[in-house]
Amino acid sequence: MDASIPTTPTPKIEIRHLDMAFGPFVLMRDINAAIRSGEIFVIIGGSGCGKSTLLRHLIGFLQPARGDILYDGRNFTAAGPDERERRLRQFGVLFQGGALWSSMTLAENVALPLAQYSPLSQAEIADIVRVKLALVGLKGFEDYYPAELSGGMRKRAGLARAIALDPEILFFDEPSAGLDPLTSQRLDALILELRDSLGATVVVVTHELDSIFTIGDRAIFLDARTRTATAQGHPRDLRDHSPDPGVRAFLSRRDVLEGIATPPAPAAPDPIDPTRL
Ligand SMILES: Nc1ncnc2c1ncn2[C@@H]1O[C@H](COP(=O)(O)OP(=O)(O)OP(=O)(O)O)[C@@H](O)[C@H]1O
Ligand SMILES: [Mg+2]
Repeated sequence: MDASIPTTPTPKIEIRHLDMAFGPFVLMRDINAAIRSGEIFVIIGGSGCGKSTLLRHLIGFLQPARGDILYDGRNFTAAGPDERERRLRQFGVLFQGGALWSSMTLAENVALPLAQYSPLSQAEIADIVRVKLALVGLKGFEDYYPAELSGGMRKRAGLARAIALDPEILFFDEPSAGLDPLTSQRLDALILELRDSLGATVVVVTHELDSIFTIGDRAIFLDARTRTATAQGHPRDLRDHSPDPGVRAFLSRRDVLEGIATPPAPAAPDPIDPTRL
């Protein structure tokens, strides 16, 4: 092959004409996206529009009503059980709510996927668990139970579990929900670090504007009104130049009806008469 001819690399993940439905209720139609290897791809949209549902389709927990999902150019939706199983092992997932098993210590939680999917010995697993917990800043917390940790620490433990098998692709659903801004910033830094150290592709659902702009290479906006993905691109480009006013408003945290529907409220009379002070 002529090396001077540029080739377009196969996307790590490709979503083709995806319809998502629960029985007769079609949640989203005709979603298309190509996610490149090593990028952080953000799924955004209003509450209840279908972000978590899209993530569940990507990891094969839900089957498309129509369309296909491909990994490295191979059809995952139509794959047989062996191929699907092989793919699933390459995924690291942090679900919304990030549930850890409450009756298990952090070390036991992180060891779970290793015991399930790898042929490693107990001692080897214990070593990896220590490394992964250290990577997310939880060195020394191996024997703690989830209830003994703060929300941010539990999220980080969930991350440690998601990366236990050195996944090629990480899926995070609202990783910073419920965390204070500083903890949320640290989590963003950690996600960037993990992407770089694992060389992973990352798909994140998030509402946090700071996160979207800090970590997102590209974003897709799911629009509940039109029931499809109305925009894709770099988050700042979408905020400043998307032709869709709903997308620009979402990314600049403005009400889309601002200035149109709500006239300013009449000034309330001052309850304190300054002349009487
Ligand atoms: N298993 C299911 N069966 C039927 N309907 C479902 C199921 N799971 C989700 N839904 C519906 O699909 C819609 C989208 O849900 P989803 O959890 O994907 O939204 P979301 O964008 O992640 O919202 P949030 O930002 O609040 O997390 C909701 O109306 C929800 O009720
Ligand atoms: Mg959700």
